[in-house]
Amino acid sequence: MNRFILLILMLITLNACKNEVTQKEETAKVVAVTTTNKSDYYQEAYRPQFHFSPAANWMNDPNGMVFFDDEYHLFYQYYPDSTVWGPMHWGHAVSKDMVSWEHLPIALYPDELGYIFSGSAVVDWNNTSGFGKDGQPPLIAIFTHHEPKGAADENINDYQYQSIAYSNDKGRTWTKYEGNPVVPNINKIKDFRDPKVVWNEDSKQWVMVFAAYDHLKFYGSPNLKDWTHLSDWGHQYGAHGGVWECPELYPTTVEGTGEKKWGLIVSLNPGSPNSGSGTQYFVGDFDGKNFKLDPQFAKDVPKGKGLWLDYGRDNYAGVTFSDIPKEDGRRLFMGWMSNWDYAQVVPTEKWRSAATIPRSMILKKTKDGYRVYSQPIKELEKLRGKSANITGTSLTGTLEISKNKGINTTLSEVILTAENHTANSKFGVAITNSKGEIYRIGYDAAKNQYFSDRTKAGKSAFSEKFAASIHPAPRLSTDKTIKLHVFFDAASAELFADDGATVMTDIFFPTEDFNQLSLFSEGGEVQVKGKIYELNDVW
Ligand code: FRU
Repeated sequence: MNRFILLILMLITLNACKNEVTQKEETAKVVAVTTTNKSDYYQEAYRPQFHFSPAANWMNDPNGMVFFDDEYHLFYQYYPDSTVWGPMHWGHAVSKDMVSWEHLPIALYPDELGYIFSGSAVVDWNNTSGFGKDGQPPLIAIFTHHEPKGAADENINDYQYQSIAYSNDKGRTWTKYEGNPVVPNINKIKDFRDPKVVWNEDSKQWVMVFAAYDHLKFYGSPNLKDWTHLSDWGHQYGAHGGVWECPELYPTTVEGTGEKKWGLIVSLNPGSPNSGSGTQYFVGDFDGKNFKLDPQFAKDVPKGKGLWLDYGRDNYAGVTFSDIPKEDGRRLFMGWMSNWDYAQVVPTEKWRSAATIPRSMILKKTKDGYRVYSQPIKELEKLRGKSANITGTSLTGTLEISKNKGINTTLSEVILTAENHTANSKFGVAITNSKGEIYRIGYDAAKNQYFSDRTKAGKSAFSEKFAASIHPAPRLSTDKTIKLHVFFDAASAELFADDGATVMTDIFFPTEDFNQLSLFSEGGEVQVKGKIYELNDVW
């Protein structure tokens, strides 16, 4: 969120800061909401059916994603008193598979040091912090404290700083460290937030990265409590159309070769390719102190130009799970499926926002250099129901699927390969309803671009920024065969093209369910084959 919006929101919500008594009331209220009969929220217009969304009220960034003791934890920026942004708490949910989630009571409340902004969580396996109990490793949350009075006062700049909290009961209850903040804002930088921590096996210390307006700061610590500044990075590289937020530094290996690299994720708002909030990435090396871009990669991301994890408009502030077991080995990512351009005015009533489906991030060495591919996690396959095969069809015009194949496609997964397309064909998947509203996603051969078109997909008057144009995305792959893999939920589409080389996530708000799915090709012809699955909901 940019500073101006933050300031306005802060002014509006300043008076709403909670004292301890009302915090307890909130806990009671949230528990009540989470035990509401599932069918109540199953019915709501636009309620995601297989994406994580809060039972009620406002959510933004995913926070503190960590795997511990057979549970995936998702914490998230949460305001339990309204469907717009306000004094931030960490909401909490757990899952066995990242597909079905159980809502838990709020994990972290605002306190005298401020609201609880975005951050991360780690398992402190060796009890470096000393917060472990009975031989069990503690969970440590590392987050930004955002002090609202300071934020509202233009003479005060050091109102954001990094703090920690620990849990000895699998994240159910948390104690804030009495020595907070652990990284004070001594240079008084206004945007100084969103710490993500990783254990660096090579330098045998914890490494924290967070965003400082237009660059990143790296800190190191032996115990998660005492932090030393290591380096700064980012002024010279990547997109800078807005403020940098929610970074992550993570170790990774190149698929197939095992070569070691470090990935960097940096969210940016505004300044994304299709406007508003978006997430770019970088690939390089980290020597325990400094991050250095891969030389080839550096050429592709001079200052002002980014490479993006997702070219849609609705994947922001995403980072990856900490402590995924070695045997699993995946780098698992989730983002916030919205955009600060309109997040607070989208037409959902009881709650606002959802998370993207979890994605596995794979580092490949391509002829263009290192590239991150994102693929839907395999756990989602368990949602598959009835399916329809498309066996080598020559497509021109429209091929109705739901009607002809007798499947219910309101929630669906489409896997298509397309070959031998004519030079000017534009083809893909369309979903429609009886109101004539339509959402289309596909490939435009003349432009060598993917596109997502929500310009006629229902409600958009809530924000002139929502459906102003069709969203293009470059095709990065040069394979002859074009591969489309799309997930449709009640109010979103996620495209993983060419095995995840180009990704697009967009939300939409039809006035009636999009219950008809068709394939289309206009301006030319294409041979398609593949499979379309009905998906079950997770309730
Ligand atoms: C990103 C962000 C973070 C901040 C949080 C506040 O969406 O602006 O930088 O910590 O949201 O809710």
